[in-house]
Order: sequence, then C-alpha cells, then structure tokens
Amino acid sequence: MIATAPKGTKDVLPGQIHAWRHVEESYREACRRFGFQEIRTPVFEHTELFSRGVGGATDIVEKQMYTFDDRAGRSLTLRPEGTASVARAFVENRLYAEMQPSKYFYGISCFRYEKPQLGRLREFHQLGAEIFGAGGMLADAEVICLAADFLGGLGIGGLDLRVNSVGCPSCRPAYRELLRDFLRPSYDGLCETCRKRLDSNPMRILDCKSPRCREIAADAPRMLGSLCGPCASAFDELKGHLVAAGLAFTVDAGIVRGLDYYTKTAFEFVSDGLGAQDTVCGGGRYDGLIEDIGGPGTPGVGFALGVERLLLAMESSGAKAPEPEGADAFIAAMGDGARAAALGLMRRLRGEGLRVEMDCLGRNIKGQMKLADRLNARYALIIGDDELRDGVVTIKDMRSGEQRPVGMRDAASFLRRRDVAEQREENGKGI
Ligand code: HAM
Repeated sequence: MIATAPKGTKDVLPGQIHAWRHVEESYREACRRFGFQEIRTPVFEHTELFSRGVGGATDIVEKQMYTFDDRAGRSLTLRPEGTASVARAFVENRLYAEMQPSKYFYGISCFRYEKPQLGRLREFHQLGAEIFGAGGMLADAEVICLAADFLGGLGIGGLDLRVNSVGCPSCRPAYRELLRDFLRPSYDGLCETCRKRLDSNPMRILDCKSPRCREIAADAPRMLGSLCGPCASAFDELKGHLVAAGLAFTVDAGIVRGLDYYTKTAFEFVSDGLGAQDTVCGGGRYDGLIEDIGGPGTPGVGFALGVERLLLAMESSGAKAPEPEGADAFIAAMGDGARAAALGLMRRLRGEGLRVEMDCLGRNIKGQMKLADRLNARYALIIGDDELRDGVVTIKDMRSGEQRPVGMRDAASFLRRRDVAEQREENGKGI
C-alpha cells in the first residue's frame, strides 16, 4: 500500500519526461507568439469558488471534487480545473483595472474523483489559456487559433475541431423547457443520473454516454436551433473568423460541455485515436463567470488541453518528441591520479555549461566506455597514466571512433568549437 500511488494518479518517470517537457515547452512558446502571459494560482481554493463558478448541478461539483476542511474548519477544494481560479485571481488582484483584454496561460495539475480509465485520471494536467475583457468573436477565434497552432506544431494527426453555440441566459431557459418537453415522455427510459438532470441541467442529458439515453436524446432539439439573435450572429461571426484564419472545423450541435459557465461559443478538439476519452481540448466563452464570482461584468473565453490525452494522441498518431540530448562528454579515468584530474576537469567543463559525467562505481575502462555509450555521450575524454604525464586528455569522438590528444586546459574550447561546427553542419551551412 505504502509503495503504491493513489488510484487514478501516475508518476512521470525520467524516461517519459522529455515528451512532457517537449509538450510544455512547445505550449509556452506558442503562448509567447500569441502574446499570452503566464499566471499561477494555488492548488486549492475555497470550495464555494467552484460550486458557484463551475456550477452546482455539474458532475464535477456534485461528485468529483476533492473537498476537505482545513484545521480551522474552512471548506477547501483541490482545483478540478483552472478557469475559475484564474477568474478569481483576476478579480482579487484587480487585474481588470489594467488595459484590457488580459491574456493568460497556465500549466496546472487538476483533481477530479472520476472512474479512472485510459485518458481519465484523478490527478491530471491541463495546459490552458483565457482571454478576459474581450466580448467579440475575434477573441474566440484567437484562443482557437492558439490551440490549433500548438496542436499542429506537435504534429498530431487525426484531430477534428468541433464548434457549437450553447446560447446565453436570454435564450437558454426557453430552450431548456423545449428540451424538457421533448424528454419528459421518455423519463422512465433515462438513466438515474439523467432523470435527476431533467430538472436541474437537461442539456447534460445530450452528453450522457449510456446507450439508452443516447437513443432517447438522438432526435432532441439542439440549442443551435433556439439561439437568440445576438447568439446566432455571434456564431456566424465566429465561423467567418475561423474560415478567414484558414482553420478547418465541423459544427457539432451536440457539444454541451460539462461546466455550467459557458455562454455562446463551445468548442472541442477531438482525436480519432483515443477511444472513449477522445476530447483532447475543450473550451468556450463564459461571459457571466467573472461577475458570478463577485467581479465587474467582464467577458471571458478560453480552453484547456489535457496533457495526458495529448500525449496519448501523439503516440497514436505517430507524432514524436525530439530525442533527448545525450551528455556532451564522458570522462573515463584509469587510476587514482587520473580520477583526481578527472574531477577537476569535470567541474571546469560543467562550469562552462557542458553536460559532463563520469563513473562513480569504480568500473574498469571497458565498463566506463559502455556507460559513455548508455549516456549517449558525444565525446569520451580518456585520462590514463600517459595522459596524466603529458598533461593531455585523449578525446574520442563517439560517432566516428576517431581519437586525438588535446591539452587538458584546451578540452573545453575543443568541445565548444566542435559543437559550433556541428551545429553549422546540421543547419546545412557547412563548416
Ligand atoms: P474540461 O473539458 O473539463 O474543461 O477539461 C479540459 C480538458 O482536460 C479535457 O478536454 C481533457 O483533455 C482534460 N481532462 C478533463 N478531465 C480529465 C481527467 N479526469 N483525466 C484526464 N484529462 C482530463 C475545463 O476544464 C475548462 N476549464 C476549459 C476551459 C478553459 N474553458 C474555458 N477556459
């Protein structure tokens, strides 16, 4: 038990970390190009932020939150998502007083008590972005373009962008009634959760995975057919922007999203290689959220990508993270005197910014060279009695096998010169 991670959590092991870093660094770089600034918020918040922000009748708030009382009896919750927290930080720190719009991005861990399966965890990671203070559809197009460019840059194939409008507080109540009227005659056929949802949140029934509920809801009226004038023209405007930006998309009237704060735009990027948990990215507009949590009326729009699902989608579509770089040099030393010289040399080289390693288990030279191979070292720097006497190291090019003596003091500049020459060659400029 002690040596088992809690159900629904996963370690990211050193062998997997380069793929994670590749994804995180690519995201950071995409956000830089789009002018989004990083924001970091606490892992836990007052429970009320999520019950009000995400919505009391959502699955997240009803059954998935990790909620606990702290020692002073305050109810706190591990964040199940990032949007409510970023909105809270925006209000609390009066960031609305700065020039708008505000464009934020984040990389966070989130916690939801769900039934774990492939692509669904209890602790998972999101890369998200939010724009506050821009009510027009250009902001929606901006966040969708950010997600699309980032995903495209990772080389993931088989991703489909789906967009919808979920209306607003002026058109949604009438639509909800229409939906209830349609579903009520089939009440007995609905699953237990959906029976409850009929009153509290009937739109979620459209998203139920139970085959019977799906069948019943298949011909149900969709929000798209009941949009008010402003919502309908906003949706047309968004589609126009996406076309202008050159993004392929499908209108999917079935997207409802699992959080209550959405108004107008809802969108998802869905992967064809992931099975049931196929939504890699979900987002949309939430024009009432900031006011709902006590801030000044401020529109918002954003998305979050699930990192674990993203990595699965990369794997299933054959998109690879670049191979991790090996050591710049491995110092192989024979004898006590050589080891002492190697330690000094290693510190100097590391001080120059090079990644240098040596054996610390007393291996013989054969074992040390094997280790140099394992570490994917570009060069081996060999120091034995002869080298020690002559004040040199034998530098072995681990790719070509070529060896040559270089003065101990010149090793760093030799490695750096070779490095520059190789980079030039790789860039096709020749030496
Ligand atoms: P969400 O759809 O709940 O939206 O989550 C966004 C993404 O997080 C999902 O598309 C999925 O990739 C990932 N995800 C969600 N739950 C899990 C889980 N249990 N295990 C693994 N991955 C998961 C939000 O969270 C909104 N805050 C997105 C947003 C930002 N809307 C506007 N701004």
